[in-house]
Amino acid sequence: MSITVNHEKKQFHLRGKDFSYVFHVTENRYLNHLYYGKVLAEDADLTYRYQKIAVNDFCGQIDGTPVKYTALKPEYSQANYGDFRDPAIFLQDELGAPVVDFRYDSYEIYPEKPLISSGIPSARGGETLAVRLFDPVIHVELILLYTVYEDLNILTRRAEIRNIGEKKVRLQRAMSLSLDFPADNFRVLTLHGNHATECQREISPLVHGQIISGNSRGFSSHQSSPFVALMRAGADEEQGEIFGCNLMYSGSHYECVEQDPVGTVRLIAGIHPLNFSWLLTEGERFETPEAVLCFSDEGLGKMSRSYHDFFRRYVINPAFVEKPRPVVLNSWEGFRFRFDNKMLLDTVDALKGSGIDVFVLDDGWFGARNDDRAGLGDWYVNREKLPGGLKEISDRCREVGLGFGLWIEPEMVNPDSDLYRAHPDWVIRAPGREPVVSRNQCILDFSRRDVLEYIKKQMYEVIRDSGACYIKWDANRHMTENYSSALPAERQGELQHRYMLGVYELAEYLTTSFPDILFEGCSGGGGRFDGAMLHYFPQYWTSDNTDAHDRTMIQYGNSLCYPPCSQSCHVSKVPNQRNGRVTSLRTRTDIACRGILGYEFDVRNMTEEEKKSIPEDIKKYHSIEDLILKGDLYRMKNTFDSNEMCEVLVSKDKSRAYVTYYQCMNTHKTTPDIRINGLDEKRKYQIAELGLTLGGDVLKNAGISLPKCPGDFSTVTLTLTAVE
Ligand code: GLA
Repeated sequence: MSITVNHEKKQFHLRGKDFSYVFHVTENRYLNHLYYGKVLAEDADLTYRYQKIAVNDFCGQIDGTPVKYTALKPEYSQANYGDFRDPAIFLQDELGAPVVDFRYDSYEIYPEKPLISSGIPSARGGETLAVRLFDPVIHVELILLYTVYEDLNILTRRAEIRNIGEKKVRLQRAMSLSLDFPADNFRVLTLHGNHATECQREISPLVHGQIISGNSRGFSSHQSSPFVALMRAGADEEQGEIFGCNLMYSGSHYECVEQDPVGTVRLIAGIHPLNFSWLLTEGERFETPEAVLCFSDEGLGKMSRSYHDFFRRYVINPAFVEKPRPVVLNSWEGFRFRFDNKMLLDTVDALKGSGIDVFVLDDGWFGARNDDRAGLGDWYVNREKLPGGLKEISDRCREVGLGFGLWIEPEMVNPDSDLYRAHPDWVIRAPGREPVVSRNQCILDFSRRDVLEYIKKQMYEVIRDSGACYIKWDANRHMTENYSSALPAERQGELQHRYMLGVYELAEYLTTSFPDILFEGCSGGGGRFDGAMLHYFPQYWTSDNTDAHDRTMIQYGNSLCYPPCSQSCHVSKVPNQRNGRVTSLRTRTDIACRGILGYEFDVRNMTEEEKKSIPEDIKKYHSIEDLILKGDLYRMKNTFDSNEMCEVLVSKDKSRAYVTYYQCMNTHKTTPDIRINGLDEKRKYQIAELGLTLGGDVLKNAGISLPKCPGDFSTVTLTLTAVE
């Protein structure tokens, strides 16, 4: 049993693999947090932590009982009732009064987690505790849901707010969780970025006041990933306590860590409150996305491995998660919009015998799409470029033993398109103003049923007729104006979230209509790489930046939460199109092999080196593919902290491992030294490349010297096999 309720102590104890999470019902029926950390005995007595009142503290009185607000650690913090920290909920009643007072009412335990009915994807499985709180003045229920994954260090949380009264109420903020910690010297890890520099790790000291990550762009975005971690003093990659919080949501998100004057720390995470409000009329309810908490007592490494297991076991489609994925050749970096039928057919022919499995036709195959200024939204084949249609290309792929893949961008439209000319009101735009364009495009208003149904039909037909076995779904701008022509004034604040529900509905529809097609997510690179998207897309285009060095950082940032099998990584030409850097084919391939390998250049004029190396590289990739799909990742060095990166993927049974070492700038060091974590310390491992057999204990503690790296931006890889 992972959920224990002690009725006498009015205490709930949630236990996962190595953690406990405990809260209780106070005398005046508030839900008060008691503990989150290393696992405790099931009957651990925490009554001594029940709220004590100190005379010199600022106290309020509720029901005649003094309440010390800074000692209260509400499970879901509420505004305007004496707790002056950032609240989880902000709700106004019909008169506009911004006051709620939720008290405990009852609880229920479900052996299987109830899904989110509004269509936000959430993780499968897990025993779930639902606690009901109620505010009798405004007749609103608050249900807090906690799902424990006994086999992992994961606890998910979300909330539902239900109006069971007759009067309207308005949510101005509804977070997925609120979590208070006793005073401690935490550091806060967040992931910021930009287009082509996604997922940059930043670790800041906790300040008095707030550290806020998140954004109101309508997309989880390149600029901030929906993830934050609290790191106790001294915690690092391999040791110390970490509390991770990943929000499974693809829209505007908000993560706030607040330290109050007495040092108490509060974490809240959920939908960004800017551009959000939600009207609840009688009988209506609002469900928040799910937040995935992870506790690690062995640093960021163990946190990441827990998240990886979680996303692989409970989020990513089981039909694909462990299945070898195709090695693709994507047309984008090679051709951009400038291609014709012959170029594509020649490309397909050139792929014969290369080891590449799928040819992906990226942007530019439809409408008047000869650059990014026109044609988006017109989902019919550009016959000038492709007189034989997609069929001719996909048939040729099949003839030479390849699969065919296709790029789509269903959420967007160019003003210069037939679709826009027919339906200018279908885009998100402010009344009486010209719409703001970004990359020359507007966003279709997916909160509108007519728009969504139209695109569903269009996309269904495109995919059905394409002969594709792989689809890349892109989304290349963020949301401005935030006004829908179809919503009444009092519901305009619902647009962003309703839009995202529309995106999820389309993704669910297409992925279930075509269950054998592998869908890859993309948003100008990794601009919407989040846990919710992994529900539909087993893999995600990590970044438009394919430079090997920059990728060591972007892929590291993603690997904090998402498994290697979710990161799509392509080898492209040098000098790199983004930053002009020249790295060797060896290095580009080794760094791309930290995820799902693919290629992205004009293969019609491959160099002799490429012709020779690529088939061999793909063969080698297949020999370690199971480690990428299912293995445990141990990061020993990273390029945020040093001149080197070193990671190892270890099979679950610890019989095999694959090490990637990367050196940024060549140094005077004779040979790099590394330690290899994650091996069985009692077994011996043969290292193929070095002709050495050494114990797992030796490799972990004494380490080994690698052969000298051949220069700047160079790599060494090692293949380890247990011999005893
Ligand atoms: C985005 C994607 C690229 C490519 C282009 C096409 O930038 O990230 O991979 O598909 O769009 O326009």
